[in-house]
Amino acid sequence: MIKSDELRSKFLKFFASKEHAVIQGASLIPENDPSVLFTTAGMHPLVPYLLGQPHPAGTRLTDVQKCVRTGDIDEVGDASHLTFFEMLGNWSLGDYFKKEAIAWSWEFLTDPKWLGLDPEKLYFTVFAGDQDSPRDTEAASYWMAQGVKEDHIFYLPKENNWWWAGNQGPCGPDTEMFIDTGKPACCDTCSPACDCGKYLEIWNDVFMQYNRNADGTLTALAKKNVDTGMGLERTIGVLQGVKSVYETDLFTASLAKIAELSGKNYGDSEKITKAFRVIADHIRTATFILGDPKAVTPSNVDQGYVLRRLIRRAIRFANGIEMPANSIIEIAKVYILQYQEVYPELKEHEAFIVEQLRLEEERFMRTLKQGLKEFEKVANNLKNKGETVVDGVTAFHLYDTFGFPPEITKEMAAEQGYSVDMAGFEECFKEHQKKSSQGSEQRFKGGLAEQTEETARLHTATHLMHSALRKVLNDPDVAQKGSNITSERLRFDFTFGRKVTREELDEVEKLVNEAIEADVEIICEQMPLEEAKASGAIGLFESKYDSVVKVYTMGEYSKEICGGPHASRTGELGKFKIQKEESSSAGVRRIKAVLQ
Ligand code: ALA
Repeated sequence: MIKSDELRSKFLKFFASKEHAVIQGASLIPENDPSVLFTTAGMHPLVPYLLGQPHPAGTRLTDVQKCVRTGDIDEVGDASHLTFFEMLGNWSLGDYFKKEAIAWSWEFLTDPKWLGLDPEKLYFTVFAGDQDSPRDTEAASYWMAQGVKEDHIFYLPKENNWWWAGNQGPCGPDTEMFIDTGKPACCDTCSPACDCGKYLEIWNDVFMQYNRNADGTLTALAKKNVDTGMGLERTIGVLQGVKSVYETDLFTASLAKIAELSGKNYGDSEKITKAFRVIADHIRTATFILGDPKAVTPSNVDQGYVLRRLIRRAIRFANGIEMPANSIIEIAKVYILQYQEVYPELKEHEAFIVEQLRLEEERFMRTLKQGLKEFEKVANNLKNKGETVVDGVTAFHLYDTFGFPPEITKEMAAEQGYSVDMAGFEECFKEHQKKSSQGSEQRFKGGLAEQTEETARLHTATHLMHSALRKVLNDPDVAQKGSNITSERLRFDFTFGRKVTREELDEVEKLVNEAIEADVEIICEQMPLEEAKASGAIGLFESKYDSVVKVYTMGEYSKEICGGPHASRTGELGKFKIQKEESSSAGVRRIKAVLQ
């Protein structure tokens, strides 16, 4: 049986034999394109060339492109949805057009030397025609010239047989290739347009001959192009004769690892199968995003937010089948090994991938338990009131305070027969993002304007207090959540599960004042992040993975990664006094303090 590695190399070899240059796929993170978060199709990085720029490798190209599509993240778990896939493609940049594209697609699909699919099982769709572009009898005639029977060809409208790069850009009619899976027809008019599962699309040849303008009108491109896309996962599923993409050789090793770590088997129950699929899919995608040369880290915006949702959803499902802590790292390692020949960047970034997964699991676990309790309260409330919808504000609270991405809340709600007002959530989310970006501007301004000696001293006091809190509370989980300094006071938020007692606050004050009295010199050194971590410096590592960082050392009292500025000696601080300790949000305490 053909393996996925073989399909990948056969495709490239076939088109190389037709004088196509084999080019490297691009990064998953698009360059200079704010309209999408990830590369979603092979043509994406080639748009400038489809629009007419000459490509250095020539007019016939072929490649394998990593793609991420997360629009239907909560459908992952069924047999066919994946958030990451590889797209095999061949391109004509003003070179060949419909005739050759169709003849080569046919040859690659049916010739026993290549895929050797049974022509009887293949079906084709072509564009039905409208005011923009004529009925594509031309494409149909080229299929028939290969021996395709008329009843294997379907004419479909724009919504099926037209490919758009986006609201603007190159586009055109396409012809799609389907395989009959052998399932019974769903109705009398069953066709590749149905999504009943009888016909499975495996390849798409797009005839890019128009540009879509901002006003929606189409203009003919100077050169006619071909853009094709064959999904590796789906096609290998067909070739290996399995019912689900998860049963292909691409997932054999990861599913086995999940079984080993969970002590359960794929197929034991619907719930277990779904968990296996979600974990296998999401961690594969997360591994590729983190392993990309333009890696992003989990965060609350843009690509980082998608990454965070993938990792956290995988962790929740991993917990659901009792996998031990950090299992996701083991799954990632399986993929790094599996793909190391084709995607050496994964192996290259292994340490980074592992560290980021570890950190994100640690962060999520910090709030998960409390979040689950909070969710139970929400569910009980609904029950008491006889309601069934978790409102958007509550869903946003679960996200903002406990780190629950919305699909997690949605799934937990569904398990108890409730739904979530997702539109309401989105509204809160957008509103919040607006505020926080205004907020960061404000902070930036404030930072520049108020970098006075006083704030530098309060900043130094913050460091001393941070390490004193860790000592007094004797809790390694005490971690900085936020810090805000004005010229009058410092404010420090940190993770801690209960109120800090007056005695403990007194002790913290005492330790800070001792450090001030010792009047030690404050030393600033620059070093790579890894070295800083190894030296025992504390701080927020998350977003500065490969940079050189500043480490401020205050004698034996504090060692922290930070941008500064600080006082020169601790003796400059005066007397440190805590004014207030209060709850900031669940699991997070807030202290306000001054220097007198
Ligand atoms: N750009 C086309 C697709 O992604 C080939 O289906």
